[in-house]
Order: sequence, then structure tokens, then C-alpha cells
Amino acid sequence: MKTVKIGLLGIGNVGSGAFQIISLNAASIAKSSGRNIIAAGVLARDKNKKRDIDINPDIITDDPDEILKNPEIDIIVEALGGIEPATTFMLSAMKNGKHVVTANKAAVAANYDKLTSAAAENGVQFKFEASVGGGIPILNAIDTVLRGNEFTEIMGIVNGTTNYILTKMTEEKLPYDVALKNAQELGFAEADPTADVEGIDVANKLTILIALAFGQYIKPEDIPTTGISKITASDIEEAAAKGCKIKLIAHAKMNCTGGADCEGCTGNGKLEYSVKPMLLPNDHPLAGVSNEFNAVFVTGNAVGELMFYGRGAGALPTGSAVVGDIIEIAKTIK
Ligand code: HSE
Repeated sequence: MKTVKIGLLGIGNVGSGAFQIISLNAASIAKSSGRNIIAAGVLARDKNKKRDIDINPDIITDDPDEILKNPEIDIIVEALGGIEPATTFMLSAMKNGKHVVTANKAAVAANYDKLTSAAAENGVQFKFEASVGGGIPILNAIDTVLRGNEFTEIMGIVNGTTNYILTKMTEEKLPYDVALKNAQELGFAEADPTADVEGIDVANKLTILIALAFGQYIKPEDIPTTGISKITASDIEEAAAKGCKIKLIAHAKMNCTGGADCEGCTGNGKLEYSVKPMLLPNDHPLAGVSNEFNAVFVTGNAVGELMFYGRGAGALPTGSAVVGDIIEIAKTIK
């Protein structure tokens, strides 16, 4: 059986989730994909740090070049987070002929064109399913089985941390700070949770969703964004009194398709987008999405409405999407 070697850049929450899945499910992955996938290099800031997972110390390095330039490695898994040096490492990996998988929404959103062009120029694959919705296979669905549609609307809860905080504030009356601390301890939050609570992480994910669904690159900083840091217990009580829940919503809508059926309409295919807390009636499907779960509503002109639901954060759900991308690439390596 063909062995495909991967190099992991970063062994934090996402990197260790992917590493665990590759070890835990090695036999079933080999059986279904016909590929033996093994980690041949792991980049870590501290080589000697005590870890919960069992990694051969010989493959751990603090020198990125030992992984990026290792001729035996076929696929680089970037799990560092943050825009830099992650983007530079991914571009360098592609230049060295390596396929790249990442969960890094900040880097993909900031450098979408650069990264996708570099992959095409170097004849390698670039996959980033885990960057939106954690374990939910939303990007792959938009890009493959739904490609026959013209998309008209996307509406979703795509940040586990803020959804967890809002859920705990609503259902258990936990103070904002306590709920945030719990989300951090559970491994849902970004290294700097400002990105979560101010909606920046959601804007990054909306940039990626828009790029795939609508073929437009809208920079995250150009998306009108409001987070949840100013939501108070009394806002939540007022919403409840109206039979509603507050949810942080990513929304993009093509207000007109610009097609022949848009007689008299002047919208001309203008895309509208925002990230903001919204009041949803309790019977709205997104109002029932709790804790770190995410959900994305997609409307296509052929398929109609679809809803994708699952765990949007956490080591194993996010690792599941990373490993799915690795396997898809590994199957194409002869
Ligand atoms: N901090 C992110 C979240 C992690 O809470 O959703 C997953 O992208």
C-alpha cells in the first residue's frame, strides 16, 4: 500500500486533533483510501514540551525548513493559526511542490487569492474545509455536489465560542466572562478570543464562504461586523420576553441574480453581507443551535434551502475536517 507522509506545522488544538485521528483511525483510513497516512514531521515551538498525545520525539522539530523542505513529505498541514508566518509557510510548501491543508481561516481569508493562485501555479492542491464550521463539510459541499447551483443566500452561526457564550448566558444565566472562560478551557476560542467575541473570526469565515459560493473575494475588514462583547444579560432577557434568542449571524445575500427572471429589478446581482447579533424567533431553526454547535443555511436556485449542522470548534471535530482533506489529497497521490 502506498504511504503518504504528512508534515504538521503546529501541534496545538487543531494539529493534535488531526494527529490523534490519523493514529486512532489508521486502519480504517488505510482500508477506505488505499493509503497509509503517517506523520513524518511535526513543527513545535517547544520540542520538549510534555504533551497529552504520544508523538515520536524524533519527528518533532522547531525548524520549519526541516518539514517544508523534506522531500519525503507530500502534504503539509498548517495548524499554526494567525496570518503570519502561516501564509509564508504555506506558500513556501506549495513552491516546494507540496499539497497544503489548513484550518486557518484568518490566513485563508486574508490571502485567499494569493494562496489559491500559488496552488494552481505550482500544480498542488490547497484544501481548507476545517476553516469554516469545524467538522461540518460545508465548503466541500458548496464546491462539489452543489456546484450546479447559483447561490442566492447564506446565513449561519459559524463561531463556536460566541454561540457557546450566548447559549450559557441564555440557558444558565452565566455571566459573559465566566462563559468565555469556559469556552477557552474547552479549546473553542482563538488564542486571542477578541477575534471570536468581536466577530472577526466570523467575518473571516464569511469571506471564505462568499468566495466559494459567490465567486467574489470580499476582504474580512470590508464586511460590516459587530460582535457580542456588548451583549448584556438584560439584552438576552428582553429577547426572551419577545420569544427570541440572540445569535451571532453571518449573512450574505444576492439581492438579485441579474438574470432574465429579474425583469425590472435594478439590483443587478449586488451581494449584501454582514456579521452581527440578531434576534431570532425561538422557532427559527438557527435559534435551536446551541453551545459550540454551528449551522449554515444555504439557498441555491436549484436545490432550494439546505441546512448543515455540527460541531464548529474543538480539536476532534476540526481535526475530522483536516483529516478528510488529507485523505482526499492522499488518494490522488500515485
Ligand atoms: N474559535 C473558533 C470558534 C474555532 O470558536 O468557532 C473554530 O474555528
